[in-house]
Amino acid sequence: MLLGRSWRMLALALAAVPGLAAWSAGSPASAPRPVLLVPGDGGNQLEARLEKSAHTPHWYCPRSSHGRFERLWLRASDLLPGLVGCWSDNVRLHWDAATGAFADTPGVEVRVPGFGNTSTVEVLDPALPTGSGYLDVLVGALVAGGGYERGESVAAAPYDFRRTPRSNRGYVARTARLVERLFAASGGRRVALVSHSLGSLVTLYLLNEQPQTWKDRYIHSWTSVAGVFAGTALELKVLASGDSSGVKVLPSRSLVEEQRSYETNVWMLPRAGSPAWPAERALLRRPGREYTVDDLDDAFFADIGYPRGAAVRAATSGLSRGLPAPGVRVHVVVGTGVPTPVAYNYTKGCEKTWFRHDPTATELGDGDGTVNLPSLLAPVRAWRAAAELAAEVRGGGAVPVAVTVTRYPGVSHGQLIRHPPLIAALLEYLRADDPISISAPAAQAT
Ligand SMILES: *[C@@H]1O[C@H](CO)[C@@H](O)[C@H](O)[C@H]1NC(C)=O
Ligand SMILES: *[C@@H]1O[C@H](CO)[C@@H](O)[C@H](O)[C@H]1NC(C)=O
Repeated sequence: MLLGRSWRMLALALAAVPGLAAWSAGSPASAPRPVLLVPGDGGNQLEARLEKSAHTPHWYCPRSSHGRFERLWLRASDLLPGLVGCWSDNVRLHWDAATGAFADTPGVEVRVPGFGNTSTVEVLDPALPTGSGYLDVLVGALVAGGGYERGESVAAAPYDFRRTPRSNRGYVARTARLVERLFAASGGRRVALVSHSLGSLVTLYLLNEQPQTWKDRYIHSWTSVAGVFAGTALELKVLASGDSSGVKVLPSRSLVEEQRSYETNVWMLPRAGSPAWPAERALLRRPGREYTVDDLDDAFFADIGYPRGAAVRAATSGLSRGLPAPGVRVHVVVGTGVPTPVAYNYTKGCEKTWFRHDPTATELGDGDGTVNLPSLLAPVRAWRAAAELAAEVRGGGAVPVAVTVTRYPGVSHGQLIRHPPLIAALLEYLRADDPISISAPAAQAT
């Protein structure tokens, strides 16, 4: 999840992670501008209630949670070798080819706790607060340095990150009501959206579902941090052979069934028709064949032994197709210069077993270590053009700078949303009366 960042977290839990940076206290003159956070993949807690029949992967897997909802994501102890099989059976999704609907494993009921507050996005496993911290640094800074109150002026819209926003029923309407509540609670200040990673695709979908008059009334701006806009090459490996992000005790292959089952892992494959993925570039190779973005719809899924994936891709590729302009002021914030997979070679094994092994070689390119740079920046040019056109239609005059880009060289995908210079720049931006562009000494703005 989060393209495997959770597994990395488990490793991080063993290492010392610096605590919250100290933030200079400011005293804002009025209520702070409300902030709504949309987390990334694996970026909020999930809960499940179990009442399973006799069938579990191992005799020792719990069958019942005795009527209680327990944490499904994240309880790091669930991921230990031996236990991870029980957990994957509970967390995987099941696709019904006849209806196109996704369902939980029979006997498992999944829910998303904490909608409208922040605790379930700040820390993913409360038993491991340092190792599993996510938006804790950002929220801590807003509270300590910006005069924010959790659940009042800063809130989050967590979701079932296994599913696209379309199959998270009621999510879009619920989030729109939350924006209106934050707006009203602040005495009518428009809301700043801040999203990370998959959360940026979710936010784009959400904004595209709202009328422009609603956006003009309620949305101040959208800061998209490390958005997976045109997908990422890493998803080919996730779906082909699994990805445990280098956590040695967990073989990648042991995760592949669960990872394939997520609708969002298919949604985050490289998008067809995006200039981020030149048609002639191989994204994956095995002896005798290579796969470009145009081969993802059928050959790829058939060859990795997951033919159903092609239908899931067909069903998800219409969501935010062409990345339609969001109709609000946008800051695109990206990390660059971190070696990022652009293509994988699978040469171990023989016919039919290539993808039972990890890739033998990985080609690296520019990006944030998880998402390729052309994908992080994919919609910028078209969104700028759309903003200029909208200004022209309104009667000409000055074109507002509606899309700005800030780059943080050397800052990785997972680290960017916890990066103190970005957070300091964001706080300053939220305090300003007039929209200014986010920039920081460590970053170049364009
Ligand atoms: C949000 O959570 C905090 C504790 O993290 C709590 O003090 C506050 O009352 C909650 N706010 C709402 C609106 O639920
Ligand atoms: C992957 O395979 C291709 C074709 O055989 C080769 O040109 C390329 O150098 C390989 N990449 C790596 C990183 O070994």
